Amino acid sequence: MPKPAIVILTGAGISAESGLSTFRSSNGLWNNHPVEDVATIEAFERNPEYVHDFYNELKPELNRAKPNAAHLAITRLQNEYPGEVHIITQNVDTLHEKAGSQNICHIHGQINQAVCLNCGQVLETFGDVNTETVCPHCQIQGMMKPNIVFFGENLLCMDKVDELLKNCGLFLSIGTSGVVFPAADFVRIAKICGAKTYEFNLEETSNNWYFDKHIYGKAGTTVPAFVDELLKEPSDNF
Ligand code: OAD
Repeated sequence: MPKPAIVILTGAGISAESGLSTFRSSNGLWNNHPVEDVATIEAFERNPEYVHDFYNELKPELNRAKPNAAHLAITRLQNEYPGEVHIITQNVDTLHEKAGSQNICHIHGQINQAVCLNCGQVLETFGDVNTETVCPHCQIQGMMKPNIVFFGENLLCMDKVDELLKNCGLFLSIGTSGVVFPAADFVRIAKICGAKTYEFNLEETSNNWYFDKHIYGKAGTTVPAFVDELLKEPSDNF
């Protein structure tokens, strides 16, 4: 008989120990680049070159990063837990994939993808994308957008996410400040649908009413320790 499903929501904090900036820290990404300039659909319409340059610069940095102990512990959980383990990530890096994880929903998109605003085709793009780029599917030039979900756009794979949240027995939130909706609301949905809910963060977040347990510390330490315990005694956590 399979054990109840586990759903893990991850945010920028899980990648911090891989050397990537979080968004809202004092030297974070949004601190150096106003959201209105690089992460809204209006900004992209106003100045696509600027937005492309921003993501073209970010791409090699994210691609150089290596998964840390927290990413690897999640992969271990996926390999050894006798039930389903799904990852919903807000991160556009691919550190979960590099750690060997599976069942990953990138609700905010991925750095190595672009989407054609003319035909909707999503492409893998490891090099630069700019306003000269021609869509290999519809052959139209200048309509490629980084496949990053900007403020004002719908999140990706939400039907799947809804189903996962409603059917899990344990919901883990790792390294997210919980201020960006709808991801910030996932814990509430999981909780009212019957899951146990645990938060892993350095500190208390503003979104903590629906968590049954808070585990404070660096994810690279707390997540592997938790996975060890969970694999020893799964039933303690349901
Ligand atoms: P934030 O920068 O808002 O929050 C990162 C969280 O991680 C904070 O609560 C930190 O305390 C915590 N943290 C930092 N280092 C940690 C560590 N080593 N171990 C555990 N926790 C740690 O990032 P997100 O919550 O991911 O959207 O931000 C959500 C979304 O806001 C992003 O996906 C992005 C941004 O707008 C898009 O790009 C669409």
